[in-house]
Amino acid sequence: MSLKNINPTKTKSWKRLIEHFEEIQNIQMKSLFQMDGNRKEKFTLNFDDFNINYSKNRLNDETLQYLLELADEAELQDAISQYFNGSKINTTENRAVLHTALRNQNSNQVLVNSMDIMPEVRQTLSKIENFTNRVVIGELKGYTGKVFTDIVNIGIGGSDLGPRMVVESLQYYKNHLKTHFVSNIDGDHVIEILKNLNRETTLFVIVSKTFTTQETLTNAKTIKKWFLSEEFGATEKDIRNNFVAVSTNLEKVKDFGIAEENIFTMWNWVGGRYSLWCAVGLSISLAIGYKNFNKFLKGAFAMDEHFKNTPFKQNIPVVLALISIWYNNFFDTQSEVVIPYSQYLEKLPPFLQQLSMESNGKSVDRNGNKTDYQTGNIIWGNTGTNVQHAFMQLLHQGTKLIPVDFIGFEESLHGNKDHHQKLMANFYAQAEALYAGKTEEEVHLDMKFKGDTNKINQLLPFKVFEGNRPSNSILIKKLSPKNLGALIAMYEHKTFVQGVIWNICSFDQFGVELGKELANQFLVKQE
Ligand code: F6P
Repeated sequence: MSLKNINPTKTKSWKRLIEHFEEIQNIQMKSLFQMDGNRKEKFTLNFDDFNINYSKNRLNDETLQYLLELADEAELQDAISQYFNGSKINTTENRAVLHTALRNQNSNQVLVNSMDIMPEVRQTLSKIENFTNRVVIGELKGYTGKVFTDIVNIGIGGSDLGPRMVVESLQYYKNHLKTHFVSNIDGDHVIEILKNLNRETTLFVIVSKTFTTQETLTNAKTIKKWFLSEEFGATEKDIRNNFVAVSTNLEKVKDFGIAEENIFTMWNWVGGRYSLWCAVGLSISLAIGYKNFNKFLKGAFAMDEHFKNTPFKQNIPVVLALISIWYNNFFDTQSEVVIPYSQYLEKLPPFLQQLSMESNGKSVDRNGNKTDYQTGNIIWGNTGTNVQHAFMQLLHQGTKLIPVDFIGFEESLHGNKDHHQKLMANFYAQAEALYAGKTEEEVHLDMKFKGDTNKINQLLPFKVFEGNRPSNSILIKKLSPKNLGALIAMYEHKTFVQGVIWNICSFDQFGVELGKELANQFLVKQE
């Protein structure tokens, strides 16, 4: 089975949405709140430690109804079943899409080509657990018998962004091992990292699904050469102690000189940008310990269950995806901003860029025809409150409509109440300012009150905020491994729903190939 081929623009609901958009496009959210005293509660979703308030959007009951009908007409429920049950929904690569199996906590079988993949998944997880524990307690040692102090993850794209983001996001839970990431082919990147490392106490984790990626192999070879520099006495046989690899390409890994027992397998039914739940997450497990890594998997599983089993109207990834489609395809917005109010989550926006833009940046539908509608959004963002002193000006007073996801946490990790209250006051204030704006009358009154009456004529228009700018507020109890797992899974499923409705192939990435080919040609010319 594969996903249905339904052009969204030919559905009844799409036509209704076009008509409805004509009626509602200029509606003021303030009047929607006035008309419906229950709006906030109605447009809030609760799940476990998550509270998602999407009431500050330019939509009403009717909008939601038509969007839900669109999901039905796109046969989303059937698509979700196929996504979880191992159908080969990645048709262009003839593969199943089963990152959800990596965090599956029940005892059900998951079949790929009639074979249950769960025993292999569990085996790999217990290899990760065993390896992590032995490194953390110092039982596994470097080539001169010293315990490891540093871990270097060598990978790029999905083999870097996910682990890097999670390790940074969960640094509060970290153990004594220092974790570093080398990704860029820019030689200065790898040299900067190596310059402070001790060969004897550093464990290198080479992560590449294909083990053919130019950046990763070049960096791995440079590091191997550095490791084997004569004056430090390490020889080829010592690679066994200090290097491990994560890949589907066992032959190429062995050719590189990695011992068979140091290879962590992955499978072609896991896409690179969805792979941090398996051995690609080895650096995560090493950094925060396997117990925390397991909690992270459990959080994602809880979100999977919510996504699989919850009616669409209360289904968080479904509702977020539909809102995003509403803006992208009807309001013609081009981008979405993600603003976490936690410095720990600084790497979340770049991770989401790959997740969403590599998945849904497609202009050909599942039939191979050019789409005549917009697909993937541009995703960008950074942390609050930093962004308030950088790009928020454009969101508040610029000419573009840019929907925002604000992400905040009820509790801070270190318990500094003063900072946290100020942080969260800003989290709420930004959503409110975008929504409510500031009218001419309000600016007038305000300036008068402040004694700036003589400047009113000159400055009034510059101080007006139109407001009516949309946002979702995602409030989570605490930044924990479990909740981070659920948050990432939420965005994975949102991306999936968008791809299903846009009728595109979300799980290939042919768009990255041309640049790679041309770079090789330029390289040959340079040599
Ligand atoms: O260039 C794109 C890409 O294929 C991503 O999809 C992937 O995450 C990244 O390269 C790294 O690939 P690999 O893990 O095979 O080295």
